[in-house]
Amino acid sequence: MARPKIALIGAGQIGGTLAHLAAMKELGDVVLFDISEGTPQGKALDIAQSGPSEGFDARMKGANDYADIAGADVCIVTAGVPRKPGMSRDDLLGINLKVMKSVGEGIAKHAPDAFVICITNPLDAMVWALREFSGLPHNKVCGMAGVLDSARFRHFLSLEFNVSMRDVTAFVLGGHGDTMVPLTRYSTVAGIPLPDLVKMGWTTQEKLDGIVQRTRDGGAEIVGLLKTGSAFYAPATSAIEMAEAYLKDQKRVLPCAAHVDGAYGLKGMYVGVPTVIGAGGVEKIIDIKLDRDEQAMMDKSIEAVKGLVEACKGIDSSLA
Ligand code: APR
Repeated sequence: MARPKIALIGAGQIGGTLAHLAAMKELGDVVLFDISEGTPQGKALDIAQSGPSEGFDARMKGANDYADIAGADVCIVTAGVPRKPGMSRDDLLGINLKVMKSVGEGIAKHAPDAFVICITNPLDAMVWALREFSGLPHNKVCGMAGVLDSARFRHFLSLEFNVSMRDVTAFVLGGHGDTMVPLTRYSTVAGIPLPDLVKMGWTTQEKLDGIVQRTRDGGAEIVGLLKTGSAFYAPATSAIEMAEAYLKDQKRVLPCAAHVDGAYGLKGMYVGVPTVIGAGGVEKIIDIKLDRDEQAMMDKSIEAVKGLVEACKGIDSSLA
């Protein structure tokens, strides 16, 4: 059986890391696409030459022509510009919306059967726009945010409790921005919910609140340190987890920016929710019960995403 084909639209910091991870995990053959001439070709060649030492079998190709993504099984989109210090993800909206138009049209023409994972920010609005521009089925287009935000939360919690990150589970819902909703009630250490750990005296509510805030600011913390761009190792790893769930029909329960129509009282919008990802793409949306405070946070996050979608419609009338 032929190896799956993975098209990476955008061969920058995240794109290059995605290609390396996809190769090392032997998820399939990789096409790195970018408008910048030479960058995808150079990265493809460099990664291919790590193959003999690493021992993977995967073909790497760099491309500047959408025809090269033809028949891709998975497309992961990072095309666009990242944040600089002082910028919010929302500041990228105008530039990246135009990029989503060309990417959406390119995917629709050459890889209409692909499972598409968008990473470009501001995430929830960009994945919505990409779906609109591409016209692909909603269950085949989603955004990577919740896996990353949850991973950040899990990392900070593992430091606080001094336990393995593997034994920490965490849930972050809502939009991928300052209003994201880390759910402490549904986050655990070895199955023990965080509020119980506070009661047991393993941490304090104050410390937990600090970790929640650090999670919300997780991307900005890295932008502030790097100064020239935004995070790329963990975002790439998170998207690869989603791509693998699709390619191997793993039915993973992963939070991602999915099209929600009915659940959470929403009528057809993209926002971060728990999903099941398998061969059918986003196969299920898990409609968990939120308490009053959680619902209030979720509502605020949903309003923020709606505002960005409205801004997109204002910029590009074909979306209105
Ligand atoms: N088509 C294809 N590629 C494009 C286009 C386009 N229209 N416009 C820009 N690109 C490419 C750039 O040439 C660059 O190589 O997208 C790549 C983006 O790479 P980086 O600038 O390194 O950004 P990166 O850190 O990978 O982040 C990409 O993901 O997390 C988000 O906020 C982040 O929106 C940003 C995106």
